[in-house]
Amino acid sequence: MCGIVGYTGTRQAYPVIIKGLKRLEYRGYDSAGVALQQKDDVTIYKKKGKVADLEESIGTSNVAGTTGIGHTRWATHGEPNDKNAHPHYSASGKIAMIHNGIIENYAQLKSELSKKGYTFKSDTDTEVLLNFIEEIKTNNECTLEEAIRIALKRVTGAYVILLIDNENPDTIIAARKGSPLVIGVGKGEHFLGSDASPMLEYTKEVVYVNDYELAIVKPDELILKNLGNEKITPYVQKLDLELAAIEKGGYDHFMLKEIFEQPTTIYDCLRGRLDATAGTITMAGIQQYAEQIINANRIVIIACGTSWHAGLVAEYIIEDLCRINVEVEYASEFRYRNPVINKGDVIIAISQSGETADTLVAIESAKEKGAIILGVVNVVGSSIARASHAGAYTHAGPEIGVASTKAFTAQLTVLMMIALKVGYMKGSLSNERYRRLLNELDAVPEKAAWVLNHHEHIKAIAEKYKDARDFLYLGRGYNFAIALEGALKLKEISYIHAEGYPAAEMKHGPIALVDEHLPVVFVATKDVYHEKVVSNMQEIKARKGKLLAVITEGDEISKSICDDVMIVPETDEVIAPLINVIPLQLLSYYIGVAKDCNVDMPRNLAKSVTVE
Ligand code: AGP
Repeated sequence: MCGIVGYTGTRQAYPVIIKGLKRLEYRGYDSAGVALQQKDDVTIYKKKGKVADLEESIGTSNVAGTTGIGHTRWATHGEPNDKNAHPHYSASGKIAMIHNGIIENYAQLKSELSKKGYTFKSDTDTEVLLNFIEEIKTNNECTLEEAIRIALKRVTGAYVILLIDNENPDTIIAARKGSPLVIGVGKGEHFLGSDASPMLEYTKEVVYVNDYELAIVKPDELILKNLGNEKITPYVQKLDLELAAIEKGGYDHFMLKEIFEQPTTIYDCLRGRLDATAGTITMAGIQQYAEQIINANRIVIIACGTSWHAGLVAEYIIEDLCRINVEVEYASEFRYRNPVINKGDVIIAISQSGETADTLVAIESAKEKGAIILGVVNVVGSSIARASHAGAYTHAGPEIGVASTKAFTAQLTVLMMIALKVGYMKGSLSNERYRRLLNELDAVPEKAAWVLNHHEHIKAIAEKYKDARDFLYLGRGYNFAIALEGALKLKEISYIHAEGYPAAEMKHGPIALVDEHLPVVFVATKDVYHEKVVSNMQEIKARKGKLLAVITEGDEISKSICDDVMIVPETDEVIAPLINVIPLQLLSYYIGVAKDCNVDMPRNLAKSVTVE
């Protein structure tokens, strides 16, 4: 949720930290702050708002120091303001701490400390944990590291914490449970971050810290330990990432860049896996569990948000091509519903960030019950990827825009390849249909580029409807999930209320919303439902609704009914969701820009939801 950065080495820490925070700002932008070790003191600067507001507030103040920590916040406990911004000082003012996560038993700890006379400057769970650590340090006359290990044994919830004080020069102590922490290994310096983006321009050598691990980080030394004070050998991995991947590359926004990257990212996702000529799909992670998948009574897909919509498309495809029962679960509901999980059940966990807490805890509970976890994840080395038995990366590259776009189409591409592979191995898919769908999938990057070439037309439609108060998105079959996704994109980016619905369900209620002020967006491409969808469009027309639709090239009937159309090339209905979502991504983007919204960092949102 929040973004954390740390640096200790020979460089000035402040510029490294500020640059790192800007790279992580998509994780939360309610407030920002830094703490620097200076002479015998720890100095904190913090401010409500974006990192740029922090820089401005610091101005020409003293930011010297080669060891420091920084934080960009997504508020959970305590509203976004200066006093709740991180870092926080301990009661003595000698220790500074930043935190990403939620301390669930903070109220109990707070009342214990209040009874001992502690008062609190902020409303945060973080300041409570920090004073709890200092209380143990003082009481037990132990080191800061020891006090942290003792305190964390009493904490419930999720955390990454970074601490510096004035007793341990050139030292950052960090600990992790549930929230992500990456350490970059340099020559005479170390970098810490919620992901690798703050360190990418300095080093490609990284260590992914695991749950219940503590790191003592100095310029020339990295010590990893568990809470039992046992040393752990750091496992250094090489990052396969270029800096350009996390730059805007001349686009106004990351979201627009990522929408236009889709012909390449879908191609990258297919590359080395799908060979339409040979008629093969190579996915080692899936192959490893092919037997279990083919013989599974059911497949349970677990995800959140846009990833859940990818799961819904996958449900339709897997049931159609593999004849295996599929259930799609909201991770947050699945986790606490006490679901029936049998040994050998196959779970597919879908996540762009690989750090979404709801999905992570849901698969860990299913794993405990003996389920097989297959991950469909974008961020390499992320927690969900590491918690899965096997799976497939979506290779969409870093997705910085909070609204997921290229990761969604990459998820669909992977899920379609899984369904085709399993359907073919299981023999539930005719060779003719298998081959035809392989060719259709192989042709998607080109068709996606064709749709993107018509972005100016969609921009004009966006201009026309940007002042609408509500939107309704409708689709049937494979396009129902795409209608849901279109509505979610518009909500996220433009703050316009939008609802996605199965088109046929409309008559059972939502049609009451329809009047001349309501734009209704149909995903109405050619498929087995098309005639019925055309009737549904007629019903809206009859009630003066404003009719927009994503239609197949050459579909003159739909064109004649609609006020505005967004045309896509003809594609098999199974593969069409991959293409049909792109005009809806563009529509939401252009409406968001026309309304002057911050499309890369929409209000109240964060790219990776690392708290339950
Ligand atoms: C989508 O645009 C949103 N950012 C959000 O719904 C997201 O899909 C959801 O939080 C799941 O994230 P994940 O794929 O990283 O697990």
